[in-house]
Amino acid sequence: MTVQTTHPVDISPIHADERDRDLDPIWRAIVAESRTRANDIHLPISFAFAERLCDAYPDADALVVRVAILLHDTGWARVDETRILSEGFTGDWRKADVRYEHERHGCDIAREVLPPLGYDDAFVTRVTDIIDGHDTRPESHSLEDSLVRDADRLWRFTPAGIALASGWFGLTPAEYCRRLRSEIVPELLTEAAVQMAEAELARSEVLLKTEQLS
Ligand SMILES: [Fe+2]
Ligand SMILES: [Fe+2]
Repeated sequence: MTVQTTHPVDISPIHADERDRDLDPIWRAIVAESRTRANDIHLPISFAFAERLCDAYPDADALVVRVAILLHDTGWARVDETRILSEGFTGDWRKADVRYEHERHGCDIAREVLPPLGYDDAFVTRVTDIIDGHDTRPESHSLEDSLVRDADRLWRFTPAGIALASGWFGLTPAEYCRRLRSEIVPELLTEAAVQMAEAELARSEVLLKTEQLS
């Protein structure tokens, strides 16, 4: 049962909302970490989805969600690059050691980056509680956790996400789109994310001509 919302859900093509630049210091602090595993594409796109999800679920603490999604995968930068592809996308990839390692390193990076920028210990703990286990813990612990988990998946439905992830998994774009529909949509935790995913996937399939190129 997904978390319902009575608030409007924006399912238009995703784009950056430049309404505030309050997190720019954090973005600038993770430039090096953004260069691994296409984080410089994944993190900004998932961040944009996270902001939309926060609009649809105003009871969530939006700052916790936005900071957690921004930092959640930075830990990949401290995992051996060759192991990301060899272990992170093959076999039982959801349980691969590198997945646990990138979560632990991501928590370390949050503890290094956030306090000098003025975030207190209680806030940092709320962020690391979400980063820790975001890929490996089966259950979500809070609404904020659920919104981060959904934003982390939603980028894959965009043409950029399909381009990168289909290559990682060794699938054609059409095959990857079918996997998104059959495996990833059912994993989404919120109704707003389901609506966004279905709209984004429908647009991507038409754009990428996945029917013709199957
Ligand atoms: Fe991750
Ligand atoms: Fe991620």
